[in-house]
Amino acid sequence: MRQIVNGESITLGTCYYPEHWDRALWAEDLDRMLEAGIEVIRIAEFAWSKIEPREGEYTYDFYDAFLDLALEKGMKVIFCTPTATPPAWLTEEYPEVLNADKEGHLYRHGTRRHYNYNSPIYQEFCRNIVERSASHYGKHPAIIGWQLDNEFNCEKDQFYSESDTVAFRRFLKEKYKTVEGLNEAWGTVFWNQTYTAWSEVHLPGKTNTGTVNPHQMLDYYRFISDSVCRFADMQAQIIRKYCKAGDFITTNGIFANIDYQRMNRESLDFMTYDSYPDFAYALWDYRENDLMKDRRWSRNLAEVRAMSPLFGIMEQQSGANGWTDRMEAPTPRPGQMTLWALQSIAHGADFVSFFRWRTATMGTEIYWHGILDYSGRENRRLRELRTLALKVQRLQETAGSRYVEKVGILKDYDNIWDAQLDRWHGRVEEVSQDSLFTALQLAHVPFDYVYFTEEITSEALSRYEVLFYPHAVILTKERMNLLEQYVACGGRLVMGCRTGYKDLGGRCVMEHLPGLAAKLTGTDVVEYSFVAPDDGRVMADWDGTLMEAAVFNDLLEPLGAENDEEAGAAPRVLARYASSYYKGTPALIRNHYGRGEAYYFGGAFALDTARVFLQKLGIGEPYGDLLRIPEGCELAVRRKGNHTYFFLLNYQKEMAQIEIRQPMRDLLEGGTVQGPRTLEPYGVCVLGADI
Ligand code: GAL
Repeated sequence: MRQIVNGESITLGTCYYPEHWDRALWAEDLDRMLEAGIEVIRIAEFAWSKIEPREGEYTYDFYDAFLDLALEKGMKVIFCTPTATPPAWLTEEYPEVLNADKEGHLYRHGTRRHYNYNSPIYQEFCRNIVERSASHYGKHPAIIGWQLDNEFNCEKDQFYSESDTVAFRRFLKEKYKTVEGLNEAWGTVFWNQTYTAWSEVHLPGKTNTGTVNPHQMLDYYRFISDSVCRFADMQAQIIRKYCKAGDFITTNGIFANIDYQRMNRESLDFMTYDSYPDFAYALWDYRENDLMKDRRWSRNLAEVRAMSPLFGIMEQQSGANGWTDRMEAPTPRPGQMTLWALQSIAHGADFVSFFRWRTATMGTEIYWHGILDYSGRENRRLRELRTLALKVQRLQETAGSRYVEKVGILKDYDNIWDAQLDRWHGRVEEVSQDSLFTALQLAHVPFDYVYFTEEITSEALSRYEVLFYPHAVILTKERMNLLEQYVACGGRLVMGCRTGYKDLGGRCVMEHLPGLAAKLTGTDVVEYSFVAPDDGRVMADWDGTLMEAAVFNDLLEPLGAENDEEAGAAPRVLARYASSYYKGTPALIRNHYGRGEAYYFGGAFALDTARVFLQKLGIGEPYGDLLRIPEGCELAVRRKGNHTYFFLLNYQKEMAQIEIRQPMRDLLEGGTVQGPRTLEPYGVCVLGADI
């Protein structure tokens, strides 16, 4: 059986870099980790030169010494392949292994992830070092699993090397067979882009307008994902030949342009995620009126859960963030390190590994703090880790429990990638995804992202009371069939503006919109427009409740007889636009279909709108009769058999008042609790009940 991420235990770990420290520190470091409750370390992900200092010269002396010590101390190890950082001797001798920018300039040695996935020479070097390491360490008793590379597609998620051009043509040839097929799919008759030979086809590089053929771009994203997945699989297949039964293969994410469901299915035992909630400071202003801040990381955790039902956290924030030249975030306040680790566990992670043990004293990441500062002296964060380790012990019984969701948000990579290249799509998607997440969080409705993968069935969909598929711009018959079955069997589906106007290649359809979704939603989109800036917020009126139809407005008509009480099943107008020249035009239609209902809303979902939907559909506060929770706290629910666990997380600087409305077990504090209860700033409470 796997030693971690096995559905049976929750384990803490840390990332350690033996190559960064004097050997004299190793033993003491390991002792102090174990004493603090760390059972697993991850090592060697950037250490190619320690293993192959010169081309073809392999040595394992350094890691042999370290791993033997780890074994002696009883520390378990995740060993990594070092392919994220090719050595200088390699990139100097074989510059073709480097990634390039759109103009073809090579990214030089000096940081990391500067290679490309498709260089045959790089693949050869990678195969060799992975084969050597896996055969050398495959049976090492300290090793419990392997990490592939480090953060595929971090830093750069686009590739423009010569090898990528060659591989892109191969990818397209496999897909379209002939140049004529490619011309048809990419609509190259537009602006005279017609190709006559494969050698004329290039990566979507620099053009004079800065834009490229959108169908080419969509295929380019698919190509990148395909390249990463193949590269990962090449490594995984080698490791599997040598590793012990029960040892796992994982990688850490999550980044753009990767179909992680495919990677997980083909090559991994489970995914791990790198969680830095303080990026809320680094990436955006930490705005006072931003309701989610670090709580927004729960959205990423829901994403990982969709990729990999069992998952771990390979890097969990434990200190201040910062590279020497960018990304600044403060030190976690007392309690926040615990809050974020328990946020991960609440969402289903059963391995949480802190980044990193001691802060680097050299290099780009001298400000990316770990548990310890440079000196390694005892500090507040280490003390907090010890307390957290005790809490995790008390949560062991929750291992293997499943996150309980009420609502699903449907996704697929075709639409994700289309939204990256198409502004009209991207803007509605961004608003709706953020609003739906925020509204569900504020109303304490646990939700899942549900991806249309090859394996998904209507049965899998049927466990969701409500599904949102906010802007399925690209629709396919297969996906619509599943949705029709879901609704026919009693499900409720909500779709938003811009549904169904593109096919899988990203070409617009000529059917009346919303195309393939017309029948299920009983909706006809007669006209549409971007919300004109001088129209302000266009509102829709749903039985006297006003809600914004944000960004884009589809002007709707019900298909067939409207409001025909006799017919009963006819599509019904529920809301109308309340402003602009289309005031009075239907903005929301509900269609009964089989035993369920499909809703078509003409706008993007602003936050107020998403909240109105939850309320009108009766899905807010699903646990309201058990718990009263303020908006500033998250509720995550996990279940195993007839045991239900409620994780309540307070992200605020202030105390939070909760009310427990029936006797429940307090897993962290012990005993049975009921009635009013105070959660400390950044405090977490985990309650258990047999329901
Ligand atoms: C992650 C990465 C780590 C470290 C950390 C801080 O993205 O995997 O190696 O770089 O961020 O930047």
